[in-house]
Amino acid sequence: FRTIDNLDCAGKRVLLRADLNVPVREGRITDLTRIERLAPTIRELADKGARVIVVSHFDRPKGKRVPEMSLAPVREAMSTVLGHPVHFAADCVGPEAETAVAALRDGEVLVLENTRYHAGEEANDPELSRALASLADLYVNDAFSAAHRAHASTEGVARHLPAHAGRLMQAELDALTLALENPERPVGAVIGGAKISTKLDLIGNILAKVDLLIIGGAMANTFLAAQGVDVGKSLQEADMHDTARAILAQAEARGCRILLPVDAVVAREFKAGAANETVGVDAVPADTMILDAGPLTVAKLAEEVARLRTLVWNGPLGAFEIAPFDVGTNTLARAVAELTKAGTLRSVAGGGDTVSALRHAGVAEQFSYVSTAGGAFLEWLEGKTLPGIQALTALRGIALPS
Ligand code: 3PG
Repeated sequence: FRTIDNLDCAGKRVLLRADLNVPVREGRITDLTRIERLAPTIRELADKGARVIVVSHFDRPKGKRVPEMSLAPVREAMSTVLGHPVHFAADCVGPEAETAVAALRDGEVLVLENTRYHAGEEANDPELSRALASLADLYVNDAFSAAHRAHASTEGVARHLPAHAGRLMQAELDALTLALENPERPVGAVIGGAKISTKLDLIGNILAKVDLLIIGGAMANTFLAAQGVDVGKSLQEADMHDTARAILAQAEARGCRILLPVDAVVAREFKAGAANETVGVDAVPADTMILDAGPLTVAKLAEEVARLRTLVWNGPLGAFEIAPFDVGTNTLARAVAELTKAGTLRSVAGGGDTVSALRHAGVAEQFSYVSTAGGAFLEWLEGKTLPGIQALTALRGIALPS
């Protein structure tokens, strides 16, 4: 795909698809990461004299103008991050957007209102794509984290304008390619999470690519139970035992080693500070549940990870939100951070809870790369083609010289 290297955009209107779907609690933005990671692309385009029109969805208003889902507060945050004023239009297409775009001067930045206020966004309605495209001369997509959606502003619009990948998109793709498509070996993955059933495609795809697969979280309970281990009251999927056994067999056939916990921290209640004990996985008391990986497991995992050159991490090892069941995840995350700092390991993390787990461990900044994506990261790990990326690779919207 084309990046914004050498992009001739001085005086041009650039429609920049960002992911401004930032976390908000009680009307306040609680994490600026997505805005901060987008800022370099905005600055680069603005410095080149482009008129930058930022477009994004926010939350899931389902085609309605839900006031709490306005991008207006995000515009303010963006202005703070960029250190200069950012304009705002109360619609992403139509007269308000057109007037705001017409008033833009070179190097200025405008944020358009939530694309999902229009039902056509999620329906990838060609009419909305054309209306968005009509606002600009060029399209830059910097929203890797929304690239798994084939929506008007992520996919449809790229059919109508010369389309380029922004710096954040480029960084995300480079990091993922180095981690899974073209990694330095040995390569391993930590896959945690509650359910096998939601990660079947992911595990299937990863097995074929990595040398070592560490299974954590409640998902590991299902694998243990499938091997005849009594996991007491632990969360597990009884209807997935055959699948778990098939995965283990498939991994063996492909030469991918799977590591499961050998000990665990168990408790009778799932609450902060609950009385707990550490037991071998073959000795889980019938009235307890596994809430974290035990120290022997974590030591073994740290030792194995030290032999790797590349590691992909998705999902915590235990119930990291609740102390003391965060110890396993914290300890392994810190070991990975140390290896990364020492230069022996490339570590790439992303998807769902992963980033909050690494933040909680205090090491999110110390991984080689932390993705801004949730669902899109998972779909990439599943080996799926992301429509937003495909739209950039296809030679669309280019006016061929006559
Ligand atoms: C995300 O936050 O993962 C993206 O912005 C996609 O949001 P969505 O799941 O509502 O499409």
